[in-house]
Amino acid sequence: MANYSDFQLGLYFAGLAGETPPYPLTFAGLEAAAEAKMEHRLWDYVSGGAGDEHTQRANVTAFERWGILPRMLSGAADRDLSIELFGHTLPSPIFLAPIGVLGVMTDDEHGDLAAAAAAAASGVPMVASTLMQDPMEDVAAALGDTPGFFQLYTPNDRELAESLVHRAEAAGYAGIVVTLDTWTLGYRPRDLQHATFPQLRGSCLANYTSDPVFRAKLAVPPEEDLAAAAVQWAFTFGNPSLTWDDLAWLRGLTDLPLLLKGICHPDDVRRAKDAGVDGIYCSNHGGRQAASAPALDLLPAVVEAAEGLPVLFDSGVRSGADVVKALALGATAVGIGRPYGYGAVLGGTAGIEFVLSCLLAEADLTMGLNGYARIADLTRDVLVAVR
Ligand SMILES: Cc1cc2nc3c(=O)[nH]c(=O)nc-3n(C[C@H](O)[C@H](O)[C@H](O)COP(=O)(O)O)c2cc1C
Repeated sequence: MANYSDFQLGLYFAGLAGETPPYPLTFAGLEAAAEAKMEHRLWDYVSGGAGDEHTQRANVTAFERWGILPRMLSGAADRDLSIELFGHTLPSPIFLAPIGVLGVMTDDEHGDLAAAAAAAASGVPMVASTLMQDPMEDVAAALGDTPGFFQLYTPNDRELAESLVHRAEAAGYAGIVVTLDTWTLGYRPRDLQHATFPQLRGSCLANYTSDPVFRAKLAVPPEEDLAAAAVQWAFTFGNPSLTWDDLAWLRGLTDLPLLLKGICHPDDVRRAKDAGVDGIYCSNHGGRQAASAPALDLLPAVVEAAEGLPVLFDSGVRSGADVVKALALGATAVGIGRPYGYGAVLGGTAGIEFVLSCLLAEADLTMGLNGYARIADLTRDVLVAVR
């Protein structure tokens, strides 16, 4: 089987024909190119975060405090990066984290479909946000054979929540990811400065405007008055009173694997397990919600408390080496957020595929050159703390 690292050979050989890569290779390069292209308020919405943004910066530097111990002559010329997740064999250990404004980040304003097409082509699963520009059914249809997961922002209307989950089931999603850290909006000075928020202006509300329960609450159909639908959405979006007591209800909505996103404390992991969830998603939302500790520092304790339950991780992953480190700290699969978002800005599906290819090539080479051939080889003791 080919190694993901062969992607770099393709770039070098294309260079012999005078071609240079179509997109930047580094996160810094992607970020700069995306900033140059994006409308400035959308740029601030995507790149910015909570408070003084130290949490999102710390997410990134947390990875720098770990090194990978190299082992020589270990026969790692051929690698296998595949993983098993909820009964699916996936070719690689990464997935597309939900980005609830992705829909308007591509030139054609169908960014969720672009991501689904990239998922279909790469085998990298997509976690599709509640906040999409195209309805979840259309996005699911574009995923091909690659599993997709539906991310639920639990609305304060139970009937609507039930409708969204049942639609996701019917559309063929492989699991439901309930995001817990966004029952209300984080304090984001950049967005506040612009006094703007994409969804409040009607962007990425397709899962609501296509929903019979949501539509029934509107005086006028959203096709005639999107502004009114957006206001209705704002009053429905979050559920501040959601507690552990509501988990039995959420669990009872579906037989699909149920994951909780935003869990970073071992006690919360235990409560989630007790409530019968199938997976934990350790994340601090990329530093966009609460100002908090870097998610990576909390991952080992989460993994320990999960006692074998799959643990998905995101927040601050910027390189293939970061992917390897998160796996070695116990993640079952690693979520890519802003990097693929910038790929979407720069080139839609092709841009996302390029970013994923770069990350996987680097992860693969990081494993190979350090002497690790399989994901199972990436145990905690392959890491060394770097001062
Ligand atoms: C612009 C933007 C929108 C996001 N929207 C959602 C969302 O709709 N649902 C969700 O659970 N997480 C959302 N997230 C959080 C991501 O799923 C992920 O946790 C985060 O991007 C990880 O941080 P990183 O991108 O800095 O690596 C969003 C993140 C960004 C940057």
